[in-house]
Amino acid sequence: MTSSTSSDAPSPEGPPAEGRRAEAPRRLVYGRRIGHRLRPGRKRLLEELLPELAIRLPESGALDPRALFARPVAGVRLEIGFGAGEHLEAEAAAHPELGFIGVEPYLGGVARLLSGIAERGLDNVRILVDDARLLLPRLPDASIRRIDVLFPDPWPKKRHHKRRLVNRETVAEFARVLEPGGELRLATDDASYARWMLAALLAEPRLAWCAERAADWRTPWPDRPRTRYEEKALRAGRRPVYLRFSRRAEG
Ligand SMILES: C[S@@+](CC[C@H](N)C(=O)[O-])C[C@H]1O[C@@H](n2cnc3c(N)ncnc32)[C@H](O)[C@@H]1O
Repeated sequence: MTSSTSSDAPSPEGPPAEGRRAEAPRRLVYGRRIGHRLRPGRKRLLEELLPELAIRLPESGALDPRALFARPVAGVRLEIGFGAGEHLEAEAAAHPELGFIGVEPYLGGVARLLSGIAERGLDNVRILVDDARLLLPRLPDASIRRIDVLFPDPWPKKRHHKRRLVNRETVAEFARVLEPGGELRLATDDASYARWMLAALLAEPRLAWCAERAADWRTPWPDRPRTRYEEKALRAGRRPVYLRFSRRAEG
């Protein structure tokens, strides 16, 4: 796999200095947390199943991701902002040998994922109902095999750019927590966010862009279900960008 900045690639647009500044903790998640009224079955899952699967961050110190699972797992994957969780559910079902951590502050989406977990009897998913930026600093170096950030909120207005989840700080954390050879996947249907992401990603020396030609970032990754947001974007005629980076062995 090679890093590439081929000439027809989306050109990076640097996050402004203000986008790189860490914001005050606990005021990081914007948008819906509860949303529409929950069906009684989903409400019950939040009350009964979520406490068994929810990750509680320790007051201090690191969180060993493998220790979250009741049985040994060959590696741990992380999906940030899983929305309704269809992608996470399908990947966890397809890879029972791995543990999956899903992070999503929106309770309606968490309830949808819980119903999928219960229906399929999955025992390899743990959930953090909070901001991913609270989890990342707690993860040890080289402890995660793959990170998926699929269609994060684009925050298109310039004055909201600082709310974007992907920036130089989070990218540095992705690089730190990924195992050597581990993978980072990001997708967006917002051209400005794609350029913003690329600027942050290409500035991170521990990550190598896997794209060798334009088709590599225009073509959806095979063997995985589309996410709900992705379906919506495609129906509206938008063409998402798919970015895949590999964690270099050195650094
Ligand atoms: C545009 S939606 C995409 C959802 C899903 N990945 C999909 O493709 O359908 C972005 C999701 O990220 C979640 N989100 C926003 N800020 C977050 C944060 N700081 N940490 C984790 N998830 C976050 C939102 O609640 C929302 O569900």
